[in-house]
Formats: sequence, C-alpha cells, structure tokens
Amino acid sequence: MTWADRKELFAWLPKYRVGAELGVKDGESAQLLFDLAEPSMFYLIDYWSLPKPHLPHMQPELRRREKRYQHTMKRFAKPIASHGIPVIRETRVQATDELHDGWFD
Ligand SMILES: C[S@@+](CC[C@H](N)C(=O)[O-])C[C@H]1O[C@@H](n2cnc3c(N)ncnc32)[C@H](O)[C@@H]1O
Repeated sequence: MTWADRKELFAWLPKYRVGAELGVKDGESAQLLFDLAEPSMFYLIDYWSLPKPHLPHMQPELRRREKRYQHTMKRFAKPIASHGIPVIRETRVQATDELHDGWFD
C-alpha cells in the first residue's frame, strides 16, 4: 500500500489508538497526526536538544531548539490540558526504555 503524502497516511491509520511522534521538532507533523488519527493517547517525544549541548558553538542551535519546544507546548496546550498528553523531553532511547513493550498500537 502506498500513500501520496503523510496526510493521506495519517488519515488511513486506525483511530483512537495509543501512538507517539518520535522527533516532534515544532509539532507541525504531530498536530496533523493528532488531528487525523485522533489517538486515545498520544506521546510527544523529542529531546529538543543536542547530543553535546555544553559546547559553546552549539548555543544558537540550542536556543532554536528551545523555541521549537516552547512552540510545541503552545500548539498542544489545549490537548495537553484536556487529554493529559505526555510530553517526554528525552532521547528516543531513554523515552522508549521507560515505556513497556506492546504499549503502543
Ligand atoms: C527532522 S525533525 C522531524 C520533525 C517531524 N517528525 C517531521 O516529520 O516533520 C527531527 C526531530 O527529532 C529530534 N531528535 C533527533 N534525534 C533524537 C533523539 N535521539 N531523541 C529524541 N529526539 C531526537 C530532533 O530534536 C528534531 O526535533
């Protein structure tokens, strides 16, 4: 099966399941997935940081990533409040280590 774009794919996904976006960035694609698949539980997972955040030349990029995190928090403010969407600000490995196998649909 093929899909023309992610919008078509997200609309095809079964609704009301437990899902996540790994690597949220500014939340644009997560928003589309949340709106189209209507998950019963939806995790936003991104470290919104860099592997070596202490390095001085990385500071501008770190500020950009912090802004993306803040933007995502604003974008999802309502669903976070109403659905209790978990926002996990960790690396994918750390985040998925904390979640049980079989947790996601
Ligand atoms: C290219 S963006 C993807 C955005 C969105 N998923 C999309 O498809 O438009 C990649 C995101 O993954 C995050 N990321 C990269 N490596 C990661 C890791 N190991 N753990 C958590 N987040 C990570 C980055 O912080 C960045 O926000």
